[in-house]
Order: sequence, then structure tokens, then C-alpha cells
Amino acid sequence: MASVARMTALASEIAQKTQIITDYLTSRNLEAASFDVDGLAEFPIPPEDEVPFKARLDLAAATKELYDISVGPKQSLRNLSWDCANNLSLQAVWEFHIAEAVPLTGSISYEELTAKVEAVNNDLPIGVPNLRRLLRHAMTNRIFCEPTKNQVAHTRTSRLLVEDEPLRNWTGFVCHDMWLPVANTVNAMKRWPASEESTETGVNIVYGHTLPWFEFLQQDPALTKRYNLAMKAHGNSEGYAVEHVVQGYPWADLGEATVVDMGGNQGYVSAAIAEVFPGLKFVVQDQAGMRTPEAIGSAVPGHLADRVKLTTHDFFTPQTEIAKLYFFRMIFHGFSDKYCVDILRALVPALRKGSLVVINDGALPEPGTASYLEERAMRTLDLFMQVSVNAREHEADDWAELFARADPRYAVKRVWRPAKSVMSFIEAEWKPGQEV
Ligand SMILES: C[S@@+](CC[C@H](N)C(=O)[O-])C[C@H]1O[C@@H](n2cnc3c(N)ncnc32)[C@H](O)[C@@H]1O
Repeated sequence: MASVARMTALASEIAQKTQIITDYLTSRNLEAASFDVDGLAEFPIPPEDEVPFKARLDLAAATKELYDISVGPKQSLRNLSWDCANNLSLQAVWEFHIAEAVPLTGSISYEELTAKVEAVNNDLPIGVPNLRRLLRHAMTNRIFCEPTKNQVAHTRTSRLLVEDEPLRNWTGFVCHDMWLPVANTVNAMKRWPASEESTETGVNIVYGHTLPWFEFLQQDPALTKRYNLAMKAHGNSEGYAVEHVVQGYPWADLGEATVVDMGGNQGYVSAAIAEVFPGLKFVVQDQAGMRTPEAIGSAVPGHLADRVKLTTHDFFTPQTEIAKLYFFRMIFHGFSDKYCVDILRALVPALRKGSLVVINDGALPEPGTASYLEERAMRTLDLFMQVSVNAREHEADDWAELFARADPRYAVKRVWRPAKSVMSFIEAEWKPGQEV
């Protein structure tokens, strides 16, 4: 009867965690997240309020487990296999700009909506039956709803596709740009066994080129912009929130110092740190293709412009900017180990005794040690790193080895994961003359 006991235990855990969350919200006169068109897109529970924050993570894990049990292994496997249809309906919504064609208040008939959608897609014939079936499938994921028969209205999720530009681009990037590469990753593994090259991936098969990922991105300004905005949406999701970077490292200890943000994209992370630590100046380096007007998705706010400078530097070439600290956020998971070593070696010419290298990157948790949502996010990201660049998320123990391979003068000081963050900090110091 262990299976029955498990169901009972989960049901009571769900009731208990829900109570913690609703008590918290009620006592503050706050709403829960909701799919109602005017509902909250996220729970208003900050990570500092640890008990309700953790209760929500536990609730998600327990409801998922109880849901899976109630579906059962046989049906779960059937569902898992064809749930790729989720991607199909979402891709269609994104590709055909359907969310923008649905009024934000009230509803619209399938006939009127089809005419509007066809018009914005250069009169591409889609037809009512196709539009209706795609939307009715999307509705099973709470994207749009049908308040009365044949009338389509927004939910909070579909409204996000209209109003949240980074998230809309995230959807397009994952469901459109990455979909076929995902489907071709096993083919890539067969064609290039155990490859560590970013030119031997599902992306290379699908898009028919031999370029590394970032060079491929830069061929197409629209794709570059979509990627940049998608990274912003990713960076803003709970476990990846930029506030974990701002709060999670003792930036104040640097006093007045220059930080080089390597592969810093459009500088949004540096800007967030600069906002809180006025003694710091940032040099945000990225590739030239990321510095074209078309690629710039978001600029550094005007009041920080003299402390956060966007510049161009390829981190595989020798570093020339002398700084106290070299910061890498979400860089090393993008390259296989041999290239991570090259990046660390290219820094050496600029390093002085006591220079710091700080990495903020995923560290895969031991199975079962993080919350379900966190572990799932990390493992999904790990797979996407394989799909796009044949790289991987690292385990906490991997870092010392990586630095040692690059140069024995690097000394890894500590590796830690701030609470609520799915990303860890790895801090190394340059210690010439003390190598063992
Ligand atoms: C995953 S994004 C991370 C961006 C940013 N650090 C953040 O935390 O959001 C990787 C960044 O590395 C940049 N990049 C890739 N190859 C590079 C290279 N060889 N030199 C400098 N930047 C590079 C990309 O253009 C991109 O902006």
C-alpha cells in the first residue's frame, strides 16, 4: 500500500503548502498568480520571504508528482512522447502573431480572428479550421480561452505574448529557432560522436552551415536581436534573476574598482550591479556583431552611462583591459571544456597578483538535492547547451580542475550558490609564484 500512502502524503503536503502561501498572501492583501487576463503573471513572494517562497516550490513539486501518479506511467509515456505538440501550437501562435490580433478586452470570433491573422501574414491562407485547432490546443495550456463558444479571448499567458517583449522573443527563439535543432541533436550525436565542437550540432545540421553558434547568430540581425531579448527574459526568470548576481557576491568589498564583464551582452547585468554599488565601473565586452545598432535590444540607462561602457573584445584573444575583477556570467556553460580552458588562458596577460576571476554559471545539483523546478530548469538548460554548442552545465567539483588545466597560478577560492539562485559563483584569484 506504499503507493496509496504516497498519494495521501502528497495530498496533505499540497494542502499544507497551499495554506502557507494563501495565509501569506491574505495577510498582505495580495493576489495569487492567475491565468485570468488581468491576473498576476507571477507570485508576489520575494525570495527573502523564505517560508512562503519555499512553500511554493514545494507545492509545484508535490502537485507535479501527484499529477504524474494520477496519470500513471503508461499514459505518462504516451503523453510525454506527443507533447511536442505543445511546441507546435505555441510556435504557430508566435509565428503568425496571433496574440497581437486578439483584443485585450472582450473576445473575437474564430472567423474574424482568422481574417485578421491572414491579413497580417501577407494574406497567407490559414483557414478557420486550422486556426481553431491550433488555438484550442494552445488553450489546453492556458494560452487563450474560449469564454463562449467560438469566441477567443486572452488569458494572462497569451497577454504576455503581446506585452512582454523579452518573453515573446524567448518563445520565438525556443519554439521557432531551436525547435528543429532539438529534433536533430540525436542525429548530430550519430554524425559526430562525442564531439566537443560547437560546429557539430543539431543547429549545424538544420541550418546547413559549419559556423560556431555565435558566428551563426551574428549572420542575421533579427535572430541576434531575438536571442538578446530571449537572454533577457531568461535572465529575469526566478532562479536566474539578476538580483541574485547583485546580492550574491560581495561587490562592496571591491570598493572603487573596475570590473570587466566578459561576454556581457548589452550590459544589463553590469547596469544592475552598478546601480547598487556606486564605487564600481564596468567595461562590458562582447563581440563586434553584438554592438551593431540592430543587435542592441536594450541600452544601459543614461544615468549609468559613464560607469558602464559597452566595448568590443573577443574573449579567445589576449585580454588587454587591466581590472580588479573579470566577470563571466553564463559564458562557460556555452563552451566545451577545451574552449573554457582557452578563455581562461586568454585572460592571463591582463592578470596581476590578486586579480579576481568570478564566474556566475550554472552548477548542476546532485540529483534530487534542489527543488523540482530548479533541477528541471538546470537539466533543460544543460540539454539546450548540447543542442546549440555541444557544451554542458558543470558540476560544482568541475571548476577547480578547469582552472588548474588553464594555468596553475589560478587559485579557486570558493564555489557557492546563493539561496534561491540556480546559478553558482566561482571565485578564483591570480596568485603568481604560489603555484604548487
Ligand atoms: C549566454 S550570453 C550571456 C550574456 C550575459 N553575460 C548574461 O549574463 O546575460 C553569452 C554572451 O557571450 C557572448 N560571446 C560569445 N562568444 C564571445 C566571444 N568570443 N567573445 C566575447 N563575447 C562572446 C555572446 O555574444 C553573448 O552575449
